Amino acid sequence: MSKRFVVYVAALAALWASGVVVADQREQVEKGTAHYLLFCGGCHGVEAEGQGKMAEDLSMNAPALTLLRQSGCAESVTERVLKAVDARHAVAVMGGEKMPAFSENLEIGTIIEISEYLKTIQQ
Ligand code: HEC
Repeated sequence: MSKRFVVYVAALAALWASGVVVADQREQVEKGTAHYLLFCGGCHGVEAEGQGKMAEDLSMNAPALTLLRQSGCAESVTERVLKAVDARHAVAVMGGEKMPAFSENLEIGTIIEISEYLKTIQQ
């Protein structure tokens, strides 16, 4: 587990403790769906099936996000999402400009809501 991920989890725990993150699962998923469509669906597809409208302009495929659980990776869906939206990881993995880094623009709670939504559509 990376240090950065531990920091995210600690931040999340703190948010939870302060009541900023609503524990209600269904509400999280509903919000996550809306955030997903707004921030991610353009590239990853409206139903996370991959290759959304904006993806045509990318030099590489925007993968389906419904397959995170089954792609043979030990990391959880949440961890994959956290890493993908993290600036440093995006630079390391994608050479800097393929997928925009959202970690400075999206609240941790929003990112968690998106991963709660993505968890519900894993195949
Ligand atoms: C501008 C297009 C674009 C947008 C917007 C975008 N992505 Fe991506 N994303 C990509 C591309 C391209 C890749 C593939 C990069 C790679 O695999 O190296 C990727 C990879 C990922 C991965 C990695 C999949 C894996 O195998 O681990 C995840 C998770 C992900 N994106 C989540 C998100 C989330 C969540 C959002 C919204 C907050 C988002 N993306 C917004 C283009 C985008």
